[in-house]
Amino acid sequence: MKGIVLAGGLGTRLHPLTKVTNKHLLPIYDKPMIYYPIELMVDAGIRDILIVTGGKNAGDFLRLLGNGKEFGLNHINYTYQEGEGGIAAALSLAEFFADHQPICVILGDNIVEGSISRYVANFKKQGSGARILLKEVADPERFGVPEIQGNKIVRIDEKPAHPASGYAVTGIYMYDHSVFDIIKTLKPSKRGELEITDVNNAYIEQGAMQYDILDGWWTDAGTFESLLRASNLVCQNAAKGKTKA
Ligand code: G1P
Repeated sequence: MKGIVLAGGLGTRLHPLTKVTNKHLLPIYDKPMIYYPIELMVDAGIRDILIVTGGKNAGDFLRLLGNGKEFGLNHINYTYQEGEGGIAAALSLAEFFADHQPICVILGDNIVEGSISRYVANFKKQGSGARILLKEVADPERFGVPEIQGNKIVRIDEKPAHPASGYAVTGIYMYDHSVFDIIKTLKPSKRGELEITDVNNAYIEQGAMQYDILDGWWTDAGTFESLLRASNLVCQNAAKGKTKA
C-alpha cells in the first residue's frame, strides 16, 4: 500500500499564523504538524509516501523532510498543487504515484493517539473498495458526518447543520485504484471544491465502503482551538510515555 499526505491549502482559518508559512509546518507540541501523519504511516508499514503540497512555502517541505531519513525512510516523493481545489483535487495529483495500487490518504492536519496498523490490515483483507475511520466527537457539525444504519454507512453529509450521528469522518482514508476514476466524475461543491465526502459517497453508492471506529483520541488542527488541543493531547501523551518508561 502506498501513502499520500495531503498538505496543501491556504490555511485561512489560521490567519495570521499561516500568512508566511504552510499550516502543516506549524508546531504541534515538539514537532512540525506534518511529522505526525508521516510517522503514522511509517508505523503502519507504509514506506512509499507522497506529500502533496502547494503555495509559496512548498520548498520548505523539502528542506524540512528531505529524503525522510529522520523517519527511517530512504526516499520521500513530493508533488505540487497549483491553486486551491479541495481535498479530492489534491488527491487526484497522486494518480501517477499510486500506479493502480491501494492507497492510504491522511490529511496533514489530522493527529491521532494510537496506531492505524490494525485498520490498514483490515483494508488489506477487504481487498477492494474504500475504508474510512470514524470517531465520536462533541461537535460533528464541523466534519463529514456519516448516517449509519445497522453496520453500514448509508450517506455522509459534509458539515451538516443537523448531524445524522455523533461521529466525524476522520481524515484517514483507504481507497482502491478506482478512486481516481471517481474523482474525474466529481463536480465542484457549493464552496467550489472537489469534496472528499463526494468521493466517499460514490463508494457508499457502490456498496463498497466499510469503516472502523478509531481507538484513542483524534483531532484535526486546522483551527486555533483544535491546533491548541492537538498540542495539549500530544504533550499529555509524551508525559504518559515518560512515566511509563
Ligand atoms: C475535511 C473533510 C471532512 C473531514 C475533515 C477531517 O474537512 O472535508 O469531511 O471530516 O477534513 O479532518 P476540512 O478540514 O476541510 O474542514
